[in-house]
Amino acid sequence: MPVVAIVGAQWGDEGKGKIVDLLAEKADMVVRFSGGNNAGHTVMNAQGDFKLHLIPAGVFNPKVICVMGNGMVIHPPALLEEIRALEERGVDLNPGERLCISDRAHLIMPYHLLLDELEETARGARAIGTTKKGIGPAYMDKTGRMGIRVGDLLDPVAFRERLEYVLSYKNAVLTKLYDASPFSTDEVFEEYSRYGEQLAPFVRQTELTIQAAIEKDALIIMEGAQGALLDTDLGTYPYVTSSAPVAAGSALGAGISPCKIDSVIGVFKCYTTRVGSGPFPSELHDEIGDHIREKAREYGTTTGRPRRIGWFDAVIGRFSSLINGYTSVALTRLDMLDELSTIKICTAYTLNGTTLTHLPSSSADLFNCQPVYEEMPGWLSSTRDHRNFDDLPGEAQNYVKALEELINCSIDLIAVGPRREESIFRRPLP
Ligand code: GDP
Ligand code: IMO
Ligand code: MG
Repeated sequence: MPVVAIVGAQWGDEGKGKIVDLLAEKADMVVRFSGGNNAGHTVMNAQGDFKLHLIPAGVFNPKVICVMGNGMVIHPPALLEEIRALEERGVDLNPGERLCISDRAHLIMPYHLLLDELEETARGARAIGTTKKGIGPAYMDKTGRMGIRVGDLLDPVAFRERLEYVLSYKNAVLTKLYDASPFSTDEVFEEYSRYGEQLAPFVRQTELTIQAAIEKDALIIMEGAQGALLDTDLGTYPYVTSSAPVAAGSALGAGISPCKIDSVIGVFKCYTTRVGSGPFPSELHDEIGDHIREKAREYGTTTGRPRRIGWFDAVIGRFSSLINGYTSVALTRLDMLDELSTIKICTAYTLNGTTLTHLPSSSADLFNCQPVYEEMPGWLSSTRDHRNFDDLPGEAQNYVKALEELINCSIDLIAVGPRREESIFRRPLP
């Protein structure tokens, strides 16, 4: 049985939650491997409509074991609230059995939230537009070797000593650089010790849990958060998040060998969206963009911010496919283009009079890239009730085939609505 990574192929919000929930029907385990509650994964199935931020979207399939991997950053009050809300709606999260949390995952501390806010303000016009959930500051502390991990909460003596050391530094930064108030070690210690007691039954050495499942030939889904273009290394730096949402990040963030990953499904929206700042060559600033935003309710799941809307960008698509090595693509939201008479696809850029067919690594260049479009006729009819590719209007089939060719990967699954059953399988997955 394979290990399948399902990753966001653009700038996030591609519909990963829906695809993971759907494919988890067959799975034994779903592992979130990166990010924190900057993510917002929407799931709509027979159990209701859900917005998940930290807990893997496989949770609605009773036999699936959900793992929050070592690559994540976890804000305990947000997680406890998510656990409470799911349990209240009848979702069983049997601690350490159905939901396991890595002892190596890093904690989002209260000073991370404050620093996210202060750093964004200090960036002024260069603000990244972060979710202000403390993600960047928490990952900075992880790589700066000043992080506090989930496992630390289980050892009060070591936790207290570590917190004293870390807070002496953080408080100096807060008071001297930002003129902000310091945090009390006693208060943070007491608050996080309480969280530790509540989370302790869920905590495991999850790389071993996952390895044991691999040895039993389980079907394991690695659930990506964010998207390839938000990757710290490969995204539109510095307008990125602070983790590795790409397929390679799934091995590291789950603590398994990259050789164990059998396939990679890239989730693409059939147009493009982005939340926050940064270059976006195919962005629409007209009534078509407004139409898609309103029809598709393109507002952030986590922050409620309006999402920026643009045509499908095949330059980004090819790059994303290249760096992730997609073995399949899942294309979402086809139904949102049902009312457009003409659909454009960005196939290349022009930069200072030169045509580019590859993605430049510099955001300064990307800001200056102009899109080159191909136009296709729309289908002007509802795709929502279709369950077979051959039944889709010819123009919709042609659009899908054009994207497939441009991104150089087969589109094996098409979503035509947010609900689990509103899906068209062209080939069996995973
Ligand atoms: P994620 O972060 O990648 O999981 O995506 P989000 O949940 O943030 O945003 C995707 C949105 O698209 C959610 O509101 C989903 O319910 C919705 N969605 C997913 N697939 C489809 C689809 O094929 N059609 C429609 N209409 N909505 C979809
Ligand atoms: P899902 O998993 C869309 C964006 C933010 C901002 C940048 C950095 O739902 O697809 P951060 O708070 O991570 O430091 O913000 O990254 N961002 C997302 N955009 N979907 C997400 O997650 C995102 N997670 C972060 O808007 O531009
Ligand atoms: Mg989202």
